[in-house]
Amino acid sequence: MEAALAKTPEKRQVVFIVMLLLLWEAGSEAIRYSMPEETKSGYLLTNLAKDLGLRVAELTTRGARIHHRGNKELLQMDAETGNLLLKEKLDREELCGATEPCVLHFQLILENPVQFFQTDLQLTDINDHSPEFPHREMLLKIPESAQPGTVFPLKEAQDPDIGSNAVQNYTVSPNLHFHVITHSRADGRKYPELVLDRALDREEQPELTLTLTAVDGGSPPRSGTTTVHIEVVDINDNAPQFVQSLYEVQIPENSPLGALVVAVSARDLDVGPHGNVAYSLFQGGGASLPFVIDEVTGEIRLKMPLDFEATPYYNMEIVATDSGGFSGKCSVAIQVLDVNDNAPKLTISSLTSSIPENAPEAVVAVFSVSDPDSGDNGRMVCSIQNDLPFLLKPTFENYYTLVTEGPLDRESRAEYNITITVSDMGTPRLSTQHTITVQVSDVNDNAPAFTQSSYTLFVHENNSPALHIGTIRATDSDSGSNAHITYSLLPTHDPQLDLSSLISINADNGQLFALRALDYETLKSFNFLVGATDQGSPALSSQALVHLQVLDANDNAPFVLYPLQNASAPFTELLPRAAEPGYLVTKMVAVDRDSGQNAWLSFQLLKATEPGLFSVWAHNGEVRTSRLLSERDAPKHRLLLLVKDNGDPPRSASVTLHVLVVDGFSQPYLPLPEVERDPAQENEDRLTLYLVIALASVSSLFLLSVLLFVGVRMCRGVRGASLGSCSVPEGHFPGHLVDVSGAGTLSQSYQYEVCLTGDSGTGEFSFLKPMIPNLLLQDAGREVKESPHCRNSFVFN
Ligand SMILES: *[C@@H]1O[C@H](CO)[C@@H](O)[C@H](O)[C@H]1NC(C)=O
Ligand SMILES: *[C@@H]1O[C@H](CO)[C@@H](O)[C@H](O)[C@H]1NC(C)=O
Ligand SMILES: *[C@@H]1O[C@H](CO)[C@@H](O)[C@H](O)[C@H]1NC(C)=O
Repeated sequence: MEAALAKTPEKRQVVFIVMLLLLWEAGSEAIRYSMPEETKSGYLLTNLAKDLGLRVAELTTRGARIHHRGNKELLQMDAETGNLLLKEKLDREELCGATEPCVLHFQLILENPVQFFQTDLQLTDINDHSPEFPHREMLLKIPESAQPGTVFPLKEAQDPDIGSNAVQNYTVSPNLHFHVITHSRADGRKYPELVLDRALDREEQPELTLTLTAVDGGSPPRSGTTTVHIEVVDINDNAPQFVQSLYEVQIPENSPLGALVVAVSARDLDVGPHGNVAYSLFQGGGASLPFVIDEVTGEIRLKMPLDFEATPYYNMEIVATDSGGFSGKCSVAIQVLDVNDNAPKLTISSLTSSIPENAPEAVVAVFSVSDPDSGDNGRMVCSIQNDLPFLLKPTFENYYTLVTEGPLDRESRAEYNITITVSDMGTPRLSTQHTITVQVSDVNDNAPAFTQSSYTLFVHENNSPALHIGTIRATDSDSGSNAHITYSLLPTHDPQLDLSSLISINADNGQLFALRALDYETLKSFNFLVGATDQGSPALSSQALVHLQVLDANDNAPFVLYPLQNASAPFTELLPRAAEPGYLVTKMVAVDRDSGQNAWLSFQLLKATEPGLFSVWAHNGEVRTSRLLSERDAPKHRLLLLVKDNGDPPRSASVTLHVLVVDGFSQPYLPLPEVERDPAQENEDRLTLYLVIALASVSSLFLLSVLLFVGVRMCRGVRGASLGSCSVPEGHFPGHLVDVSGAGTLSQSYQYEVCLTGDSGTGEFSFLKPMIPNLLLQDAGREVKESPHCRNSFVFN
């Protein structure tokens, strides 16, 4: 019973003393009083003197006093009257709290003799306090999953009053879900519990507010209230649900990466993490799928380029999951729209890069075209340039062959660039080009062609051997070995002409060489054929005529035919003493094997024993007397005659002529008077002279024949050639010269004169007469005549 007071050290001390006193006063009886709390001060509790059976005066004399346990004096004793008065208002709750009964102990102490009286004052409770909740509000979180019947403890209200004045009952404001039951503890205190009557649904009513009232048992009862907030705690009781169960979208295949395809959306009625949905791909392709879904927003975007040709449709299932594992699904059907994004493709399956010319029809290439787009985007047309001799032939499906239209000619065009264009019909039109280069290979279809159909070459006679005399040239429009030309000399049909000893040709470049020195006097000109052959298979060849003209050089001196030179004795002419001036003594005859001005001869008198008596006509070699002979003139004269050609430098020949002056024309020649000879010796000399003359005549005849033959032949040869030119240089033919070109021709009349002259002399040359007539030409004009083809055959009369 002291426990409530044993709070401070002083109190402990007091308790200790009381204990001693109690031990000492064992057996003494306590006096009990009772009074309700909250009684006004000054309240007369009792009269102690009366209660103790003492006199009032005795209280004073014996020094009666009240000893309170504790410091506070609650009671006051009036020593005069012995009344015990309440000093102040007492609050039971303050003094005793929950201790029941609430008893205040104090002693009445008397001295002389010392006497203790134990007095107890019991305070009785009155309902002076209302129940009070510790907080004005209470928060209660109840998961919506809580089952009906579930009990939730509530904080109890405090009421310092005790007994029936304490809280007796709890009530809750009317509602659909809860009621309160009031329980009693062992000590009698009451506590409330909330009982769920009907299940909660956060989605329907996320929170409730109840008023909890605690009522005590006082009279009148007092009450206290508190607000109970009930928060319905969400539990994941709702699955996410998509707004649409099927999304159908179309997207062009050329959409850029990251393009929004569709945004799916799912709702979850739960809140918080239970209402947060995460979107993901449930099914339909996995990593290879070109779409990516945003986990939070549900936006499906393009991740990889689309290709209508590869996959025109996509079907996906999207799942939305909340944190609690509930999920919902929807389907997304994506249709890829074709865009003309593929150019046609061209695949060459076979290609001939080189086709022979002349081939009637050749396949150049086989190719196929393809376009993975669909519809018009995949329909193709195929073409090549239309100015080429090639054709495109469709074979089957998308295969084409490129063929030549006809034979080609490499020489006109050796290479073709064929551009194949394939375009589709989409919008925009896409096209592909492929260029094929075709080489036209050579066929030997062109013969070599000479730059000229005939060539004329000139060579000065007496050339050095192996002289380059000219070059012939042929071209071949083929290529390679078909155009590689080899030159050659073709065999001549003239058996006289040993061509291979005269001319050689460089087979590679067509250079012509004279192998040896040519002699104009032997061979004035000749023709031969050269050939040019290519190395094709078969080889083609062509030929050209080469006319080679030998140009004359003054390499022959004039040759004196008459007077004869190599007789044992000098040639002698007879001259009658009575000869008139201008008497023709003789005529000098000479030939020159050269031609042209190299054969133009002039005669002159170089030396005479009697100058002025004889003169020589320069242009015809006639030796005539210039004056009458007188008796004083010597009978014997010696003339040195010169014949000179017109070459550069000129060449000449001289001859010595003896003239014997005789008296009387018709008399035969007699031995010189001053020469004494015996007849035998004279006969022998005559015979020798005849022999010499005969021999000379034969020789001359032979020489003339040879010259005649050469002359005729040359004229014929020149006539046969188409060339109009001749070796004689153009120019004025000087009148004082005689042209004896080539054969050294003599006119018939001139021969006649020679013969006559011979007759006039010894008559030993009469045999010449019949041999000459057919020497040259029937022509006997007085003037110089010119043959159209052989200008060097002049005839003088
Ligand atoms: C508590 O109060 C309720 C309602 O006012 C009443 O029905 C119930 O009987 C009371 N309980 C007690 C123990 O007084
Ligand atoms: C073909 O094309 C090639 C390469 O572009 C070029 O060198 C050649 O000259 C062209 N040929 C023709 C005939 O156009
Ligand atoms: C005279 O000369 C010619 C030419 O030189 C010669 O052919 C001939 O045999 C000669 N005659 C005599 C008799 O010597």
